[in-house]
Amino acid sequence: MIKRTEFLSKVYGLANGHSLDVYEREVAGYATARNVLTSMTPQQVVDEAKKANLRGRGGAGFPMGVKWSFMRPHPTKPSYLVINADEGEPGTHKDRTIMEWNPHSVIEGCIIGCYAIGAHVAYIYVRDELHLSKARLWGAIAEAKAKGYLGATPFGKAYPVEVYVHTGAGAYICGEETALINSLEGKRGEPRLKPPFPAQAGVYGCPTTVNNLETIAAVPSAFRMGCDEFSKLSALHAINDGGFRLYGINGHVKKPGVVELGVGPTLNELIYDIGGGVTGDRKVMCVIPGGSSTPVLRPEETVDAPDEKSPLHAWHGKSVFDVPLGVDTMRGVGTMLGTCCITVLAEGTCPVLAMHNLMQFYRHESCGQCTPCREGGAWLLRTVDKLLDNNATMQELDQLHDIANNIMGNTICAFGEGTAMPALGFLKKFRPEFEAYVRGERNRKDATLTPS
Ligand SMILES: Cc1cc2nc3c(=O)[nH]c(=O)nc-3n(C[C@H](O)[C@H](O)[C@H](O)COP(=O)(O)O)c2cc1C
Repeated sequence: MIKRTEFLSKVYGLANGHSLDVYEREVAGYATARNVLTSMTPQQVVDEAKKANLRGRGGAGFPMGVKWSFMRPHPTKPSYLVINADEGEPGTHKDRTIMEWNPHSVIEGCIIGCYAIGAHVAYIYVRDELHLSKARLWGAIAEAKAKGYLGATPFGKAYPVEVYVHTGAGAYICGEETALINSLEGKRGEPRLKPPFPAQAGVYGCPTTVNNLETIAAVPSAFRMGCDEFSKLSALHAINDGGFRLYGINGHVKKPGVVELGVGPTLNELIYDIGGGVTGDRKVMCVIPGGSSTPVLRPEETVDAPDEKSPLHAWHGKSVFDVPLGVDTMRGVGTMLGTCCITVLAEGTCPVLAMHNLMQFYRHESCGQCTPCREGGAWLLRTVDKLLDNNATMQELDQLHDIANNIMGNTICAFGEGTAMPALGFLKKFRPEFEAYVRGERNRKDATLTPS
């Protein structure tokens, strides 16, 4: 069931919607941070945040309040809040809309977040190409400082908070939180081994929380309405993911874009009710549900959950396109919710070319630190290239599964899985199309990613 909401998007498109004036007028901006800082203890803020059941919007879906609760003050070192606005996942462009249209929600979220975890400084890590996003954030910081909402005594409270924008240089791996931390410190953007986790040793070896930009931007709304109420905003409370999300709809749909909804629309609702249906009124071939790292789903796939205790039992036998999108429900159907930005591929698209396209990206973006990822990604790409040229054997086609499976679990960070899982998804779900290239029944010349 679609539940339209207007927490972040209320100011989208308004004249000067990004300004402090409009933020204060339209959504009582900064009243929540004022209230939190002047009437709650940090522990109360963390306890309240847990009630929101706000699962991190960066991809992994870890509950925001629980993450905040991991922060322990260090006797000698400061703590930091880091906001991940790298947003390099292909098909994902939701954080950018917040920075461009509602930057004050991010700054207000940072004030509340810093206070909750005992930090006095927040860094927002933005990829450098997003010029308007950076300008809007810088502008918002200046406006908030001028009003005394940031600085030595926000809202008169002796709890200094500063927010800085740090620009990345457009490397996808710098979205991975520990690579991001290295990059922030001026080092090469390579992921770190965990443990230690950022809450133990993050920026400059100090306790650090990394939150996705949408996660932190949702915090003022959650506290404004009460975190318990916020948790019930999702279309289906049982989905175990509170609040609203920004959903991106890309690919072969008539009306692509970003929309704010209570958590839990289905793929069919996003494609047809919001996206206006498939271009050329074609059928859907498959959907990449949450950014390019998530395995594809086909509309013919049905839910297999005969056990009455299964959280997916209510959808047993139904199309996976009718299952509400949630962190756990998508895991239950063999994929991931990821960033909630779907890419629709219409019938007529070549799935082998689609996989090739993704493998080009992952081969290029691997930081090269781990051999299975560096070599495996390149090997996957080379083999799909051979397939497209009708030069690969059945044995090489089968080998693609082995290469992908040998990347999984053998790398420092989840980039490896992000490469292997979509590859395995295409291979398993489009086996006949892959075999057709081996037999010479299809060729690269006729393959397309944009069926007319
Ligand atoms: C290769 C890779 C790229 C990632 N890129 C992003 C990104 O661009 N933005 C983001 O918020 N999280 C990204 N993540 C997830 C982060 O590591 C981290 O889980 C997230 O920022 C935590 O925020 P959240 O708990 O609010 O979701 C990425 C992870 C991996 C493995």
